[in-house]
Amino acid sequence: MDGRDLVRSMKMAGSVQGMRTVRSAWRHRRADARALTPRGVERARVPGLLISGEPGPGGGVVRFARSQLLVRVAVGGAVFWSWDGAGPLPSYALPGDGPEPDPRARLEPDANGRWKVVSERLTVVVSRDGAVELRTPGGVLLRRELPPRWWEPVEGGEARWVQRSELPADARFFGLGGRAGGPRLREGTYGLWNTDPGGRFGPGDDPLYLTMPVQVVVSDAGTHLAFHDNSWSGAVTLREGEEGAGSGHDRAGTCEVRVDGGPLRCWVVAGTPARVLQGWTALTGSPALPPSWALGPQHARWGFGSEQEVRRIVAGYRERKLPLSALHLDIDHYDAHQVFTVDRETFPGLPRLAEELREDGVRLVSIVDPAVRATAGNAVFDSGLEVGTEGAFVRDPQGVPVRGEVWPGECVYPDFTDPLVREWWGALYEERLGQGFAGVWHDMNEPVAFSAFGDPSLPRSSRHSLEGRGGDHREAHNVYALAMARAGYEGLRRLRPGERPFLFSRSGWAGMQRYGGTWSGDVATGWPGLRASLALVLGLGLCGVPYSGPDVGGFDGSPSPELYLRWFQLGSYMPLFRTHAAIGAGRREPWEFGPQVLGHARRVLEERERMRPYFVTLAELARLTGAPYVRPVWWGAPGDRELRDCEDAFLLGDALLVAPVLEEGTDRRPVRLPPGRWYDTATGQAHEGPGQAVVDAPLSRIPVLARAGAVIPVRGPEGGVELEAWAPAAGRTGGGLVVGDVGDGWARAEVERYTSCVRSGRVVVERDGEEGLVPYPVRVRGLPAPSQR
Ligand code: GLC
Repeated sequence: MDGRDLVRSMKMAGSVQGMRTVRSAWRHRRADARALTPRGVERARVPGLLISGEPGPGGGVVRFARSQLLVRVAVGGAVFWSWDGAGPLPSYALPGDGPEPDPRARLEPDANGRWKVVSERLTVVVSRDGAVELRTPGGVLLRRELPPRWWEPVEGGEARWVQRSELPADARFFGLGGRAGGPRLREGTYGLWNTDPGGRFGPGDDPLYLTMPVQVVVSDAGTHLAFHDNSWSGAVTLREGEEGAGSGHDRAGTCEVRVDGGPLRCWVVAGTPARVLQGWTALTGSPALPPSWALGPQHARWGFGSEQEVRRIVAGYRERKLPLSALHLDIDHYDAHQVFTVDRETFPGLPRLAEELREDGVRLVSIVDPAVRATAGNAVFDSGLEVGTEGAFVRDPQGVPVRGEVWPGECVYPDFTDPLVREWWGALYEERLGQGFAGVWHDMNEPVAFSAFGDPSLPRSSRHSLEGRGGDHREAHNVYALAMARAGYEGLRRLRPGERPFLFSRSGWAGMQRYGGTWSGDVATGWPGLRASLALVLGLGLCGVPYSGPDVGGFDGSPSPELYLRWFQLGSYMPLFRTHAAIGAGRREPWEFGPQVLGHARRVLEERERMRPYFVTLAELARLTGAPYVRPVWWGAPGDRELRDCEDAFLLGDALLVAPVLEEGTDRRPVRLPPGRWYDTATGQAHEGPGQAVVDAPLSRIPVLARAGAVIPVRGPEGGVELEAWAPAAGRTGGGLVVGDVGDGWARAEVERYTSCVRSGRVVVERDGEEGLVPYPVRVRGLPAPSQR
């Protein structure tokens, strides 16, 4: 039992549910002890010496004494390499069959007995002992994979493997899914096992709900993303390098990926950060476009408890003239916490309530938990038993459905890795739509089985379909939520073909952006939790999941008015802007923190609404290019080391630099500026980057700076779109993109391009290609420099 286990079991001890979680933990442990044979004696293997190379589509195969390496460049520039004959499929990360090989890339020998594949963006060099180097077209080393090592049980079974890599001494690591300690991932070991930390987490907790073996590495040599396509449990150990370490030599950064089974295969995408994300989402799928209402302010609480309370809350927003786009109902509106049911006593007229709110511009969103109470008479349980020949639920090696303790009591778990089960589950969303819900919030899908000790999930020996291939929970665990998201997304599309589904999910894996977004989960109320919120959103964005946000105010406890307000301000610049809290925690409505906070919060909400056209544009750009709305400040200048190390600010699209307040008692803060001129949007004062500026950050607002030359679509006073144009710096031009709001269906808006320049002392905005005519009012901000006037 480790520290976390001890705290968990102490919290639970005494209650009936506590007793059941102790029993369930023992049961799961016994099941694994029975079914998973200890690994016994293992034999280590390395590839051995190179024997020959054989060109093939997009690259070729290099044979070694004890393994073979496949190298393949795909159309679009991503490079795939694998050992022991593994191909890119099957894969939960790739939609469809994956990309075609690039016919121009070919394996060829070089003069030093090595083999190489040259492609547009990367050169792959394979050395005689099985090391694989990835170099830029200019020959600079981005990453060196050392020969892998496998451990194979002598008695047969899955081989574990480890792959060590060397990175440039100045490299910084990001990504690996949602990590509270980021965004820059420092030296340490990061688990690859989706985990519910149990009620709250802070920056020191790892792993969390949404892990993925996706590293984004930024160094002077360039930016690249490496994805080890393997869903088994594992860990990544990172160590930043040091320049001029010891005797003046650099110490390389290192990365070690250890996995307990499954294929050793990797995709690498290189280029500028924008090209990396474009390549990554071309490989794993475009981010789903949220309906435009999901870009407005949202509010949730676990424990609204009744229709009256929901009405009171919405009326509270309305009376105070606070914009609200959606309200989320948590498990307390279920009948005895059972998914796809409604408590008819406390919520007797949900469809009517939903309609009323809808007329008022507020959508209802429903939580959906995967675990199904295992009781005859529970319609979902009963119908699940009828799916296929064996029923819908995850089973143990003896064929008995695996049980676990969750909110409704003893539950079973749909096996979303089975296409039939996904279809059945997707159809169940009809009930949610019938109740009037406009979107879903997937929770507890790591999946969670409360447990007094050990892993709070299913036994590792549990069996899964894995698309008919068959396998156990060690392989299926990390993709469970991804497959659930697919079930929900496809179900909603079938049921409401005319509307874009709104879905976000606590857990997930590489590729989940195809179905929706995510949120922070139970981030602890406190200043460290506020910082962790930003780390999560930035890290997930770099892994291809652009739509996310924190529980504003933190999940547990009661934030001070100041902390609440600072969280509210940060959250308002995140794609998912939602207040939420646990059932026993303090309230999160803006008026609960006194008149001063209410006044400031109102301005925050109004500003979010004013920015809505910009969010709509960023959402569409994320779909088209994979670029997240929320980007690290080094996005446009990855060669700037100061920016690489800056973790307390972010770019919102290309135009804005947001510098949230992450510390108590702050009224001014330093901001690290990317190159170019930046205007403080509150004061209009210009600051020149690269460098640092100190700006005011009174309680009423967080600093937001606009890039000189930026053209930003905003909502004008009459409700229509207008363009906010920030004066370009002397001798420079600027511009921006605008995508109109097509509402919640599948219509596509065109991407409009605008340019800005200074002519005869005046800022001029023109539209590309349309004879320069601008169909919106333009408001100029920031003055041209005196020399330009
Ligand atoms: C989990 C979720 C949280 C939700 C609660 C009850 O802790 O992360 O958001 O409120 O379950 O459903």
